[in-house]
Amino acid sequence: MLVTLAAWAPQELSCMCIYRFNMLTLNKILGVPCRLAKWQIHGFLKSFTFHPEKQLLHKLVLGIETSCDDTAAAVVDETGNILGEAIHSQTKVHLKTGGIIPSVAQQLHRENIEKIVKETLSASGITPNELSAIATTVKPGLALSLGVGLEYSTQLVNQYKKPFIPIHHMEAHALTIRITNKIDFPFLVLLVSGGHCLLAIVQGVSDFLLLGKSLDIAPGDMLDKVARRLSLIKHPAYSTMSGGKAIEHLAKQGNRLHFDFRHPLHFCRNCDFSFSGLQTAVDRMITQKEKEEGIEKGEILSCAADIAAAVQHTVASHIAKRTHRAILFCQQKGVLTPSNAVLVVSGGVASNLYIRKTLEIVTKATNCILLCPPLKLCTDNGIMIAWNGIEKLCAGLGILHNTEGIRYEPKCPLGVDISKQVQEAAIKVPSLKI
Ligand code: KG4
Ligand code: ZN
Repeated sequence: MLVTLAAWAPQELSCMCIYRFNMLTLNKILGVPCRLAKWQIHGFLKSFTFHPEKQLLHKLVLGIETSCDDTAAAVVDETGNILGEAIHSQTKVHLKTGGIIPSVAQQLHRENIEKIVKETLSASGITPNELSAIATTVKPGLALSLGVGLEYSTQLVNQYKKPFIPIHHMEAHALTIRITNKIDFPFLVLLVSGGHCLLAIVQGVSDFLLLGKSLDIAPGDMLDKVARRLSLIKHPAYSTMSGGKAIEHLAKQGNRLHFDFRHPLHFCRNCDFSFSGLQTAVDRMITQKEKEEGIEKGEILSCAADIAAAVQHTVASHIAKRTHRAILFCQQKGVLTPSNAVLVVSGGVASNLYIRKTLEIVTKATNCILLCPPLKLCTDNGIMIAWNGIEKLCAGLGILHNTEGIRYEPKCPLGVDISKQVQEAAIKVPSLKI
């Protein structure tokens, strides 16, 4: 299946080429010139299980992701076309157990990885022999989960004698935007997910400068905990959603002004984040409200929506403040192209539209362009891993022809840490009306 995500000129051109190629092939097969619509030609050629696009493209990478609780795979080409993808999400299972149990995640990855990769390849119409390389997340993430992806990938790599490209999960999140938007380096990236929270300058495919990160937990983790504490799983409308998504939906019915939570790290003029203090404060507030309303822990509070709205607002403001400082730091140091400074926001929490809107206020005030990948590419997926493989293949970076000695790394920082320089710059961020 050929899915074109971007409306970006070279890709359009490549689609036109494929279309013309299809027409020529079809005319040749039929022996007469024909006038058929694009979809009819694709359908006809597909009936021969023939994929003409494969003949024109040089690079096809299979990406495999198992760093946390999604077993995902995709085949992507060098123009960003997604030839096939599949994903198995463990969210529902982990919601029931009240969080990710690593051994359960490992077992579910084991049960699903082969099926997911086979589904991806068959949707792509690709045999493993036709792949240019296999790219797999090897860092950072849950050890037991990473292990399943790495073991399966090395088996595949050795069986089909393919190059192997180890992928850094956060680098993949950071570069996902280049599938859909043709942006050049350098750009600023904010990665906010269930396991991570950081601000970095992306200077190249494997060249990152870390401006700041969370000193404790990530915002997604915090929102997941608050959702659990509010017992949102018992609410039919939210029972199958991730905690962050449930909070976003519930917050729409709440009034954030009914609660006032202290903003984390208010007096620290750096780009670090913190969410565990806020989580404790919210927890305490929920306990107090349960007492006031005379309800047991586990029942849903009447003010749950107001709490959700206030928490979401505090998280959004905290993230916006640190990001604002990062932009000012980059402008002060002349790191970003002044006329075309780009802020990319990605990771599961970046699918939150309230947070996106808040960041839009910051980018408007600082003359930056805000770019977010489409919602489905913000959360973990195989496409971003395959695309990172493509980027590395094109740049000739990190391509292994021997998998001996390759290990997964549960903890792994991103790029070169320059957060001390940010701290020393001690930039005061002007207030914005959010
Ligand atoms: O990037 P991701 O899929 O996995 C990690 O690498 O962590 O992010 C998952 C996290 C979860 O904590 C989930 O609650 C959060 O992203 N999330 C959201 C939303 N959708 C997912 N947080 C806030 N608002 C959302 N709409
Ligand atoms: Zn992620």
